[in-house]
Amino acid sequence: MTHTLSLPWTPVALSSDVPPGTVIPAKLSSGPIAVWRTQSGHLSANGDRCPHRGMRLSHGFVRGETLSCIYHGWRFADDGSCTHIPAHPNLTPPSAIKCNPRQAKESGGVIWVADELPDEEPVFFEGYKPLRSLVVAADETSVREATQATDVDSGLAVNHAGTDIRLLVSDLDGEQVFVILLLAENTSPEACVSASRWAEVMRQKAERICNHGETT
Ligand code: FES
Repeated sequence: MTHTLSLPWTPVALSSDVPPGTVIPAKLSSGPIAVWRTQSGHLSANGDRCPHRGMRLSHGFVRGETLSCIYHGWRFADDGSCTHIPAHPNLTPPSAIKCNPRQAKESGGVIWVADELPDEEPVFFEGYKPLRSLVVAADETSVREATQATDVDSGLAVNHAGTDIRLLVSDLDGEQVFVILLLAENTSPEACVSASRWAEVMRQKAERICNHGETT
């Protein structure tokens, strides 16, 4: 996965997408991941593959402070270690059983994940808040063309009808990109609605550019 500038952290979701006690699928360049939040609110991420029989852990569910695989119920802590195997309830799971933990952080309402802990902190857009995210079935070049955006602060900047919009763009798999919209904190509700609609129009335009060769 690449993003608009070469960031050590990848933006994968909005904080609001992962309330306590939930798990969602996401992607890094190294592969699919499961992003989850414990009941007490701690954020975690790990490879989206159970070390037992390979079931996607994002199909599982959060039990208290652990992530439970939906297939045979193995449970994992936020450091990736296996804490419980239902078929062997008296066994202390071997420490070698791990579900490939990743680094996960939140900054400005955005969840950022990295394979290894980077030296620097995730990007923080002072004075901005996330509005929404969307998946665009196009490459990053087409999104840039559709938005006519300029590079700024490790993201893209667009002005739509007087509203300053910042975009974080991550290439998911060469055919789709994940986009997060951020607006200034004092943006009016009407302007938020307008920006959200603009994002849908941008999505359709980028997909036409990428898939049908439309020019701007
Ligand atoms: S595949 Fe996950 S517990 Fe068996």
